[in-house]
Amino acid sequence: MADLFGICPWWLSSILDNPIRRLVHDPESILSPYIERGQTVLDVGCGPGTFTIAIANLVGESGRVIAADVQDEMLRIVRDKAERAGLSSRIVTHKSRPETIGISEMVDFALAFYMVHEVPDTERFLREVTTLLKPNGRLLIVEPKYHVSASSFMRTVEAAKSAGLEPVSEPRIRLSRSMLFELAS
Ligand SMILES: C[S@@+](CC[C@H](N)C(=O)[O-])C[C@H]1O[C@@H](n2cnc3c(N)ncnc32)[C@H](O)[C@@H]1O
Repeated sequence: MADLFGICPWWLSSILDNPIRRLVHDPESILSPYIERGQTVLDVGCGPGTFTIAIANLVGESGRVIAADVQDEMLRIVRDKAERAGLSSRIVTHKSRPETIGISEMVDFALAFYMVHEVPDTERFLREVTTLLKPNGRLLIVEPKYHVSASSFMRTVEAAKSAGLEPVSEPRIRLSRSMLFELAS
């Protein structure tokens, strides 16, 4: 799905958010076990917001979603969707740079869905995410099986452990390799 520059281009956003994808990766059923009302959640590499909108519904009126991406066009799509869904007050968009997410707000939960393989420096990325997690904060990494080998995913898991995250479980998500982490105490 990545283009010549290593990231999924915005004009492929309809591949990421359409009824078939939602059947395969139902955002609410994937995320509802981990997200509570009132939480602050980071959706990093949010793309066109397939998960952002579901997260905004799960955190409720008192919660907040930070949708971060390196592509302005993706963030514009997210803002349009948020507006149409009446969820703009819960969602802030943030333009990241490839080498840093660049937010300072602490979060209860971070989602990195189908994006870690696009990040230029995985170790640095995971260290940064770790600094953003509140105590007991959790990170869910999901990677596409067709694109990320088992050994490559294990390297990501090891990098997450080195960054200070403990693997908690391997949620079963179709076509994917996934790991839920918690900030080590
Ligand atoms: C394959 S898409 C996945 C989008 C979304 N998470 C989903 O599953 O529908 C990967 C997204 O990650 C973004 N991305 C790539 N590298 C990034 C980085 N270093 N920081 C933030 N976003 C990044 C891309 O611009 C793209 O929108």
